[in-house]
Amino acid sequence: EGLAVGVDIGGTNILAGLVDGEGNIVARARRVTDPADPTSIEAEVAAAVAELSERDEVVAVGVAAAGFVAPDSSTLLFAPNIAWRDHPLGARLTERIGLPVTVENDANAAAWAEFRFGNGRGRHDMVMLTLGTGLGGGIIAGGKLFRGGFGAAAELGHLTIVPDGHYCGCGREGCWEAYASGTALANLANSIATADPEAATVMSRLAEGGPIGGAHVTAAARQGDAVAVRLLRRFGYYLGRGIATLAAVIDPEAVIIGGGIATAAGDLIIPSAEDGFRANLSGQGIGGRLQIVTALLGNDAGMIGAADSARVASTSAVLSR
Ligand code: BGC
Ligand code: NA
Ligand code: ZN
Repeated sequence: EGLAVGVDIGGTNILAGLVDGEGNIVARARRVTDPADPTSIEAEVAAAVAELSERDEVVAVGVAAAGFVAPDSSTLLFAPNIAWRDHPLGARLTERIGLPVTVENDANAAAWAEFRFGNGRGRHDMVMLTLGTGLGGGIIAGGKLFRGGFGAAAELGHLTIVPDGHYCGCGREGCWEAYASGTALANLANSIATADPEAATVMSRLAEGGPIGGAHVTAAARQGDAVAVRLLRRFGYYLGRGIATLAAVIDPEAVIIGGGIATAAGDLIIPSAEDGFRANLSGQGIGGRLQIVTALLGNDAGMIGAADSARVASTSAVLSR
């Protein structure tokens, strides 16, 4: 079978893993993303892949990237949180690494991983939401990853959830991502710290004087900080509101919640997501049967999915020769 490398390039971290045919990670490497510098991102990815391929022979390399991927599985057309504009990421990485590199949207890759190896197993129609720097979406419809007509389907973070609401990195206002992502959570926490430092004492202490990040909010909530718990409930409510809209379009069997925040605080978010979902369902609650569950693969789903789709792509390339 051989091992494939999966690399998940998020707005904050680059996670790389050597993945076997059953979706198990046998080795890991981690780097920091400089979202303003695509060249440094490529250098870090290549270094992580080199580190992992020292151990074993690698048959394929897949990259999960936080942006709009073209149907060529290489070009990043646009990314709200990384400086990719019509950027030939896959081609550049192929050149650096010396192996064909397949690029997939990060949340699509995560959806694929959960469908194959995680909490989507045995389902045919499911939606994946990844909560990290942004809010990513992936749709499995009829047992297949749904890419749309131009490759960029399931950009669910940019559904309008609040008309004329907060500004989003995509250039619009009121996007779901501006209410239910790590960035949104951090922005809220920092506004509270500015307006009412007393209320933000626990979060600020965890941030050690620096800006409060999403991880500080979840850590504060874990310690029982009432303000942080309230922020996560509000986050969950907005998450659920968007899921009600998805139910109307897709009527999925399950919505799987992954990404860093779900891994850290899924149990604090899901009950409010259920409330937000029920409160916003249309048609007297039809569509209300879907289950909201956390990802089995946690924050590893993106890299596992990227590795698996690259493996599949390399096998079919060999077969069609
Ligand atoms: C991007 C998506 C990405 C998501 C999660 C969003 O801002 O538009 O392409 O999947 O963040 O990283
Ligand atoms: Na997507
Ligand atoms: Zn947006």
